[in-house]
Order: sequence, then structure tokens, then C-alpha cells
Amino acid sequence: TNAPVLTIDGPSGSGKGTISRRVAQRLGWHYLDSGALYRAVGVAAGWADLDLDDHGALVRCTFDTRIGFRDDAAGELRVLVNDVDATDELRTETAGAAASAIAAIPEIRAALKDRQRAFRQPPGLVADGRDMGTVIFPDAPFKVFMTASADERAQRRYKQLNDKGVSVTLDGLLREILARDARDAQRAVAPLRPADDAVHIDTTGLSIEDVVEQVLALVPREG
Ligand code: C5P
Repeated sequence: TNAPVLTIDGPSGSGKGTISRRVAQRLGWHYLDSGALYRAVGVAAGWADLDLDDHGALVRCTFDTRIGFRDDAAGELRVLVNDVDATDELRTETAGAAASAIAAIPEIRAALKDRQRAFRQPPGLVADGRDMGTVIFPDAPFKVFMTASADERAQRRYKQLNDKGVSVTLDGLLREILARDARDAQRAVAPLRPADDAVHIDTTGLSIEDVVEQVLALVPREG
């Protein structure tokens, strides 16, 4: 379809997940968490004990893995991998690192392309990821590239994980984030980079509400 799309790309911890969800709610649009697809494949590969170097097996696993999204009673997005709720496992840095390794495989990116484009439905879509504005929805009328300093991103992740009772160190997280950013920016296929026509928003020091308003201001609405 040609329903409008708002793409929000950026590195991990830039705030794009939280912001995208809220903006989608405010607009009444659909929401695509594309990172969850890569994470889901990473988790499914882990369940199947696949070797992250065995690209053939990983590609087959991508085709075989059912990935579903639904909102729970609290309005939280739950992710089902082969019909099992894997939301909490998906959020771990282990799943993030597996996703980032898997996301560098061109056949896997290609295999997930149509699944992502299928989310483009009326009245509109907010798509969150690394290549939403560059590869998946290059014709999107609204594009944001969201960043924040590495320190702030590590601190946000630290707080998120701490709140969940996961024990991590700030230093370790910062190192993991920088390593994942470097891998995402340097890979040959669909590297993390802003679309030429993206609006840049640096969220360092900004509140969630401030950023939501800045993003909403890009999308003209009636009334
Ligand atoms: O956004 P999130 O941290 O959940 O993404 C996990 C990983 O999936 C990223 O580090 C990146 O390697 C990969 N990814 C991607 N393209 C997307 C979304 C995520 O390559 N559109």
C-alpha cells in the first residue's frame, strides 16, 4: 500500500524504541520494531543451538521462525517466537549481540524485507530500526535519524536493566554498545547511516515527552 510511513533509525539506546511506540500511539498508526525481528531470529537460533558462523542454517532458521507481536493488557508490546512469549529474552544484550551478528548476513536481511514491508497498512506506520529510511521504506515521507551520546545511551540501558533486576556494569554496557555500534555502522549491507532526507534529532539530555513532540511536529495532521 502507500500508507504514510514515519521511519526512526538510529543506534541502540538513542531512545528510538520508546519514542517510536509513543508516537505511533499518538498518531494511531501501526508500529514496527524491526530490531525485534533480528533479535527473534537470534533467539530462535540459540534455542536450536545453531552456530553463528553457519550462515546456511541461520538463513533456514529465518524462514522457519514464526514471529508474532501483540499488546498485553498493560499496553506493552510482547513478542512471540514460534508462539512462545520471548519478550524478556529478546531484550538481553546476548540477544542484541546475536541479532547484530545475524543482521550482517545479506540473505537474512533479504528474507526479512517483505515481512517488514507488510506492516505498512492504513492509516500509517511508524518503523523503528537501522535501515528503515534507507532500505526498507526509502520512499517514506517522514524520516528521523535519532542519536544520543554513547555515555547517555549506556546509562539508559543500565537503568532499564537494573529496573528489571539484571546485574550489569555501566562500563561493560558502554563497551558492548560501542562494539555493536561499530559492527552495525561498518557492515557491508544496510549499514547504520542516516537517509539523505532524514531529520536528525540528538536526544542527549532531552525528556521523552520533548522528543515525542519534536517528532510529531514533522507529521502534519488535520484539526
Ligand atoms: O534495535 P535493536 O537494538 O533491537 O536491534 C538489534 C540489532 O538488530 C541491531 O544491533 C542491528 O544489528 C540489527 N538491526 C538491523 N536492522 C534493523 C534493526 C535492527 O540490522 N532495521
